Amino acid sequence: MRILYLLLLTVFVQLSFAQSIYKDKKAPVENRIKDLVSKMTLEEKILQLNQYNAGRNTNVNNIGAEIKEIPSGIGSLIFFSADPELRNQIQKKAVEESRLGIPILFGFDVIHGFRTVYPISLAQACSWNTDLVTQASSIAAKEACLSGIDWTFSPMIDVARDPRWGRVSEGYGEDPYTNALFGVATVKGYQGKDLSDPYSIAACLKHYVGYGMSEGGRDYHYSDVSPQSLWETYLVPYQACVKAGAATLMSAFNDISGVPASANHYTLTEILKNRWGHDGFVVSDWNSVEQLIAQGVAKDRKEAGLKAFMAGVEMDMMDKVYLENLQQLIAEKKIPMSRIDDAVARILRVKFRLGLFDQPYTTVVAEKDRYLQPESRAVASKLAEESMVLLKNKEGVLPLSSDVKKLAVIGPMAKDKSNLLGSWSYNGRENEVESIYEGLEKEFTNKVQLNYAKGCTFDGSDESGFDEAVSVASQSDVILVCLGEEKKWSGENASRSTIALPSIQEKLVASLRKTGKPIVLVLSNGRPLELVRLEPMSNAILEIWQPGVAGGSPMAGILSGRVNPSGKLSITFPLTTGQIPTYYDMRQSSRPTSGRYQDIPTEPLYWFGHGLSYTTFAYDAAKLSATKISKTQKLTVEVTVTNTGNVKGKETVLWYVSDPACSISRPMKELKFFEKKEINAGEKTVFKFEVDPMRDLSFTDSDGKRILEEGDYYIHVNNQKLKVELVK
Ligand code: NOJ
Repeated sequence: MRILYLLLLTVFVQLSFAQSIYKDKKAPVENRIKDLVSKMTLEEKILQLNQYNAGRNTNVNNIGAEIKEIPSGIGSLIFFSADPELRNQIQKKAVEESRLGIPILFGFDVIHGFRTVYPISLAQACSWNTDLVTQASSIAAKEACLSGIDWTFSPMIDVARDPRWGRVSEGYGEDPYTNALFGVATVKGYQGKDLSDPYSIAACLKHYVGYGMSEGGRDYHYSDVSPQSLWETYLVPYQACVKAGAATLMSAFNDISGVPASANHYTLTEILKNRWGHDGFVVSDWNSVEQLIAQGVAKDRKEAGLKAFMAGVEMDMMDKVYLENLQQLIAEKKIPMSRIDDAVARILRVKFRLGLFDQPYTTVVAEKDRYLQPESRAVASKLAEESMVLLKNKEGVLPLSSDVKKLAVIGPMAKDKSNLLGSWSYNGRENEVESIYEGLEKEFTNKVQLNYAKGCTFDGSDESGFDEAVSVASQSDVILVCLGEEKKWSGENASRSTIALPSIQEKLVASLRKTGKPIVLVLSNGRPLELVRLEPMSNAILEIWQPGVAGGSPMAGILSGRVNPSGKLSITFPLTTGQIPTYYDMRQSSRPTSGRYQDIPTEPLYWFGHGLSYTTFAYDAAKLSATKISKTQKLTVEVTVTNTGNVKGKETVLWYVSDPACSISRPMKELKFFEKKEINAGEKTVFKFEVDPMRDLSFTDSDGKRILEEGDYYIHVNNQKLKVELVK
């Protein structure tokens, strides 16, 4: 009897041990996943593949009902609230009331900061300072984490060349390499050294893939992405960020030459999972599974679910197509259980890696300790400063001379706060934003008198404020005109047919011009603008983008000369909307000097990489370590840059390559490396680029194979071009 009892006890202990592998913190993640999946019913598995939302209803009386409606076994929620206690309440339901206690993954769009709103991503890339972007993303992750968020739908790394598309503001500009580097910097900031670190959140690369190829700048429209440009342009940042360990991806709304991105087996499974070995998961964009019907590839929701799931979309955002159809599709043997298990395992893997099973709840700290800590504001200010681009500075009107005693501050953006936040700033608070005017007040107190007039609103035809503005301007030494776009003109579903500012703003400048006083234009916008009429009327133009909470002081610092501007454009400013698309890495044409516009110049107003400084940098002749190398040899190119002006400044050296004769027609030049360094007045610094032929000189074929051909290549730096011969 005693022996039997002992035997039973041993079996029981062993069984319960076996049952709890997935709960055992020390067990390897893969063992925990395997154990958990083996214990799950089909219903439980399918729930993991779905995402709902929560926290949209701020009415406390409804929150209980809202929580009640959330199934305890749901895979993920988009968490619209920033209340960690609400998250914990919902999480408690999952952990304590679901059979297996699987924690929910709380996701949200933390795009350019959480409560500390940073400059928009397009601006961040103009800083060419990836370390600063990592710091900003890391603070954003901490603020988000303390608000109950585990996962952000960011970074957006869609290479975008059409500024009419509202979403250009969300990415890092027109160049694949720039998107790759800033994407990686952002992923590093969010995910930290390890996803399980207390303030790490999981990144989500979006929108996979080709969404930036929006035809005519229209959002959600069909896009024709050729296999060559898919590999050469659109996949480049994704490959880099997957390699850097990005936990998840979001499948896009667009088409990839006839096959929607959310039903594309080639990109979602063959490339991402099979070739790149990504072991996290793909979430659809909001309703992008159901939208396969509208895109014309599915007759109903069931077929849409089948196509998206079998293509490689593991989680269904919001449309409940998986919830309603997967079970039947499995019964009909259209979806094998192995694919369900793999999808569930991928989602659980991210949850385990985040440490959610071991620490499912958010530590609640006082709100004052959560957001906008001094170091968060300092990083926001630094990033705003480095991302502002001095586009024009005729006769050195900037920095303002000490003779300027009265400054007219005019325009709808001068005292505006809300629009400086930019799109996707859900948690940003207007009262936490420093306006342009406040920045000027701090900078110029007791030095320069500020004479303010609004002049006009952002749009419309009311010119009744012009007279006051002209009168204020007449009594001042210099006129600062603060113009730009409202934040809702950028972001999702915010396409514009023209990138010019509304004519009322241009008319205001024309009126002010009549005073004969120098005009300094300050622009805050989410896309490149058509400045063909404004540029000739302005003596200086400073692009401050949508700088977030701390743009006022850096902008004022640039005006006073306390700050030397160092931003350079991450996207080209066409001269007119009709020049779109214009980007620096266009392909070579058959008649380079012909085929030009007959009515306007063909050159854009400001190329990618343009940006002025208050100092001058002289480039010595660049030197190559060899002019002829074999395919496996490396090469060093270096250039000495001297600060020949009177103030210290930061210079970004951009290194490009070109291949004039190749078996395919390649872009005119391709950015391969950049570096930003501060140089004191009168001093010099060496910038180096290590060329690895396979990485930097090769091209991709239309299926991603890298090809390195012998022949002549050029390395471009500043306005120099150096020839390198590549031999066997
Ligand atoms: C739709 C947008 O396209 C995507 O960028 C965003 O992350 C999701 N909605 C969730 O809000």
